[in-house]
Amino acid sequence: MSKRIAIKTLLAENQPRLSVKVCGWVRSVRRAKEVSFIALNDGSCFASLQLVVEPQLLADLPQGLGTGACLSVRGELIASPAEGQSWELQVAEVELLGGVDEAFPLQKKRHSFEFLRSIAHLRPRSNSFGAVFRMRSQLSFAVHQFFHQRNFVHVHTPIITANDCEGAGEMFRVTTLDPQQPPQIEAKVDWSEDFFGARTGLTVSGQLQGELFATAFSDIYTFGPTFRAENSNTSRHASEFWMIEPEMAFCDLAGNCDLAEDFLRHMVGYTLEHCAEDLDFFDQRIEKGLINKLQGLYKAEFHRVSYTRAVEQLQTAGQNFEFPVNWGSDLQSEHERYLTEKIYAGPVFVTDYPKEIKAFYMRDNDDGKTVAAMDLLVPRVGEIIGGSQREERFARLQQKMAAQGIAEGDLDWYLDIRRWGSCPHAGFGLGFERLLMYLTGMENIRDVIPFPRTPGHADF
Ligand code: 4AD
Ligand code: MG
Repeated sequence: MSKRIAIKTLLAENQPRLSVKVCGWVRSVRRAKEVSFIALNDGSCFASLQLVVEPQLLADLPQGLGTGACLSVRGELIASPAEGQSWELQVAEVELLGGVDEAFPLQKKRHSFEFLRSIAHLRPRSNSFGAVFRMRSQLSFAVHQFFHQRNFVHVHTPIITANDCEGAGEMFRVTTLDPQQPPQIEAKVDWSEDFFGARTGLTVSGQLQGELFATAFSDIYTFGPTFRAENSNTSRHASEFWMIEPEMAFCDLAGNCDLAEDFLRHMVGYTLEHCAEDLDFFDQRIEKGLINKLQGLYKAEFHRVSYTRAVEQLQTAGQNFEFPVNWGSDLQSEHERYLTEKIYAGPVFVTDYPKEIKAFYMRDNDDGKTVAAMDLLVPRVGEIIGGSQREERFARLQQKMAAQGIAEGDLDWYLDIRRWGSCPHAGFGLGFERLLMYLTGMENIRDVIPFPRTPGHADF
């Protein structure tokens, strides 16, 4: 096959070309007597290339040219005399690589996101999802760029693990035992007979392994898939999602918030600089004012407020919440959204939560009641980051594990890093899909992940 040029590259060159080959999928065909116009998109950028084709060339093609068909064309790129595009391709040769019939589901100009979700194998060929997944790819690169610039070591933490980091009992089981007749001891499944000789599952977080590496390399991060068998059917929860987790030795809660702020700013800056075309689309069609919001965010300082103060603010807000606000209970989404959307009108770190509602590994504060935790809340999405300073004191950590009913034997390896050469350290987890929701304005987490997994859904 002779070499094709990507439409993105061709348009970026911004100059006429005598003969180029372009391949892609037809977005629309407008047939007229003199010439036909075809919008061809190859996914390399939002814009489609306008093809100008003489009717005879099309008449010679086999059946199947229509919206969705795949074409390879060669022709001359000239400045377009018509409105709507700067360049057009005067087609000299056309080949139909893959035809379509009337059953092709993406015939209309606009389809609902729900409908497109039902054809997840075709939705990347739509305008909205083209923009979403190009941006997802760009931002994934930006994550690595940020940490690389700061000399963080990238660690691949395991997918299969025996430990439930968050202790919320939301692990998917990984087993090779026969579900009909598992080996048993005293009427209970004998997990020692299982593939790994223990009860294992898919990771809910790479944090604990990340901590081990931070206490050797100082600054590390992991960026991988995480899995939660949490039966919540909301627009912000997925059963499989990607998380970015930095972990830093010699860092406290304030330093942790500083890094989170810098990181988010980097992601926003990268989006504004490198995703302008797709961002324009989101600004016009998905969230009006999105670009303005991101420009503001880029310059903004994030607010920081303690949980205790936030509870007071919510209690005196004169607002009728569905769930009451009490010191000691977790903030509900409605409370989080009220804080970030109404009280602070921007991103806000809520810090120092009651220890009873947070995971065992968070560092006890001196007040005896709270731990050095932080959640970053942002408008529309709510919690986007969860993190903490970790309990580095061996005896304290032992006590905390005992208090939460965690057997020491299960986490001996984790205790070891407190046993020998322990140090203050902190880290956080950013949900990559929640970040994408925030940066694109998309309202459902299912619409920012290529193949969403939610309760009852794991197709394709
Ligand atoms: O607050 P979480 O549960 O924190 C942790 O897992 C820590 N171990 C992270 C750390 O300190 N290294 O999750 C972190 C973030 C949340 O703030 C949210 O953005 C995202 O992960 N998240 C989800 N995203 C999509 N679907 C779900 N079911 C999610 N659960 C958490
Ligand atoms: Mg959390």
